[in-house]
Amino acid sequence: MPEFPVIQVLDWNQAEAHARRVRDAVFIVEQRVPVELEWDAWDARCDHALALDAQSNPVGTARLLPDGHLGRMAVLAEWRGQGVGRALAQALLAKARERGMRRVVLHAQTYAAGFYRKLGFEEFGAEFEEAGIAHIAMSLALSEQRSDG
Ligand SMILES: CC(C)(COP(=O)(O)OP(=O)(O)OC[C@H]1O[C@@H](n2cnc3c(N)ncnc32)[C@H](O)[C@@H]1OP(=O)(O)O)[C@@H](O)C(=O)NCCC(=O)NCCS
Repeated sequence: MPEFPVIQVLDWNQAEAHARRVRDAVFIVEQRVPVELEWDAWDARCDHALALDAQSNPVGTARLLPDGHLGRMAVLAEWRGQGVGRALAQALLAKARERGMRRVVLHAQTYAAGFYRKLGFEEFGAEFEEAGIAHIAMSLALSEQRSDG
């Protein structure tokens, strides 16, 4: 992991402008997710991880819902394959432990299941469609001892 991007975990008030830039580019423009599906009332209640480059431009984001769902994981195309997604996930797993959560679950786009498997997540249930994209549910049990994400 290079010195940049740096990872911050923020509330929606602090993260909104940056998170919107990344999610607009990745989900709405690149993946053609309908705008009305992308933005929901959960954002205001989530912890948001942001990855910022040396100029403080956002290059990645993800969110943790109060019920332990990890989601909206997005890294700008030119920043992929450099550990940014893993760093975002690890920051939110650390936050989940801090909040006393014992399990984190997510709906992975099926093509990205291997990314989450490397973080320790395991698939459960059958594949399903969300926003026109194939997904699979995955979960990770959090031990109380670990703090390295
Ligand atoms: C999925 C995504 C977040 C991964 O982010 P990233 O920054 O490229 O991932 P990282 O570089 O941190 O990868 C961590 C590890 O996962 C692997 N990995 C990354 N994407 C993967 C994929 N699609 N399938 C399998 N493995 C993958 C990497 O090779 C790396 O492995 P390593 O530890 O052996 O080197 C990014 O591709 C993305 O934003 N995609 C578009 C949006 C999207 O689909 N989000 C997921 C919604 S569920």
